[in-house]
Amino acid sequence: MSPEINPWSSQPSLEIEKTFSEFGISPIGDAIAKLPEVPYFIRRGIVLGHRDYQVIADAIHNRRQFHILTGFMPSGHPHLGHLMVMKEVVWHVRQGGNGYITIADREAHAVRGLSWEKCNEFGKEYLSCLYALGFEGQTYFQSRNDRLKDLAFEAATKVNFSELAAIYGFGADTDLAHADSVITQVADILYPQIDREPAPTLVPVGIDQDPHIRLTRGIAHKMRMFTIEERDGYISVRSKNAPEEALEAVRKAFPHAKKYAGHVDIKGAQCTNVAATVREIERAHGGFAFYTPSSTYHIFMPGLTGGKMSSSIPESIISFYEPEATVRKKVMSGITGGRMTLEEQKRLGGEPEKCSIFLLNLFHMVTDDTELAEIRRKCTAGEVTCGQCKKDTAERVVAFQKDFREKMDACADMIRV
Ligand code: TRP
Repeated sequence: MSPEINPWSSQPSLEIEKTFSEFGISPIGDAIAKLPEVPYFIRRGIVLGHRDYQVIADAIHNRRQFHILTGFMPSGHPHLGHLMVMKEVVWHVRQGGNGYITIADREAHAVRGLSWEKCNEFGKEYLSCLYALGFEGQTYFQSRNDRLKDLAFEAATKVNFSELAAIYGFGADTDLAHADSVITQVADILYPQIDREPAPTLVPVGIDQDPHIRLTRGIAHKMRMFTIEERDGYISVRSKNAPEEALEAVRKAFPHAKKYAGHVDIKGAQCTNVAATVREIERAHGGFAFYTPSSTYHIFMPGLTGGKMSSSIPESIISFYEPEATVRKKVMSGITGGRMTLEEQKRLGGEPEKCSIFLLNLFHMVTDDTELAEIRRKCTAGEVTCGQCKKDTAERVVAFQKDFREKMDACADMIRV
C-alpha cells in the first residue's frame, strides 16, 4: 500500500503543512471568524486544517442545524491519543450539532482481524469515554446498523476498483471485506443526513483519515440528482440522473427559468436560494440531497516513544485503565526536548515543540492557558529540568486518569448496544 497518506499505517506524517497544501486542506484560521468562541484545540494549534469548516462555523453562528460525526475502530483499548477527536465532537454538540459516533467494528474485523466479541468489548469502552466527556447523541456499531449497510451498498454503486487503487493503493490481493469497510465508512459519514435530514456535517479526524474524507466528498456529490453551477448572469441547474418530473419541478419553482435538455437555467435568482429549493425538490423525488461533508484535521499527540500513539506500540500509549505505576513509568521514560547535559539545558533551554511530555500537557493535562505558557517559559528558559517536569506531568496524568475512570464507570449504563 503506497499512497502517502494511508489510514492503516502507524507512521506519523511529518511535514504536515506541506501535506496539507498538496491535498487541498486549508488552514483552520481562514474559517473561524464566525465562531462565537474559539475552542482551546484551535487556539493551541492542535486542530489546524479543514475542508469547508466555514459552512459549520456559519451554522453555529446562525443556529442552523448541523451534524457532527466521528468514528473509532475498536482494535484495542481507547487511550489518550483518542481523546482529541472526542473532545472536538463534544464541543460541537454543545454548539448545537447533532452528535453521532460510529464504532467501526467492520473495519476492525476486516483490517485488524479482531473477533466480534473483542470489537464489542473495546467498542463499549470507547463509548464510555465519550459519555464521560459529556457526549450526547446517537451511537452505533457498524455491523448492527442495517440502514447504514444499505446506504453503503448504494454508495458502492459510485466507486470502482481503480479509484480505490488510486486512493488507498489497493491491489489484486486486497480482500473484499477491506474494500467493504471503506465504503461502510463513507456511509458512516453520510449517515446523519439520512437518519435526520440533509444538513452540513462535520467530521473531525486525524490527517490519516483524509483519504476517506476525499472519497466521501466525491461520492456525496455523485449521489446528488443535480449540480448547480453559477454562470455569467444566471444559474444553471443540471441533471445528473434526475427523473424528468424533478427537472420540471425545478423549472416551475422559478419564474425566470428555462428548461433545456438535461438542465434548467435560472435568471434573477440567488444561488443559495436555488440550492435550497433544488435540494427540497431532490428529496421530494426520492433523492439524497446530500451536503458535501466538512472536516477538520488535528495533529497527532506524539506517543511517549516519539512516533504516533498507537495501540500497536504498547509503550507509546497511556490507556485509561492502566495501573498508576506503569503510567508513571511511561511518563518518566517519555522522549523530551531536553538537552544532552544539565549544563546545556540551563544555557540553551529545552525545546517544548519536540517534547512528548509538553505536548501531553498542551493536548490534555493543563487546561489553563496561563499555566501552560508558564510551563513553556520555564522550559525554554532552562529553569526546569526534564526530570522535574516529567514528575509534575506524571502527577497530572495520574490525577486525570483517576477522575476520568470514575466518570467512565459512572457512564457504563448509558451504553445501549
Ligand atoms: N477509520 C477510522 C479509524 O481508523 C474509524 C472510522 C470509521 C471513522 N468510520 C468513521 C472515522 C467515520 C471518522 C468518520 O479510526
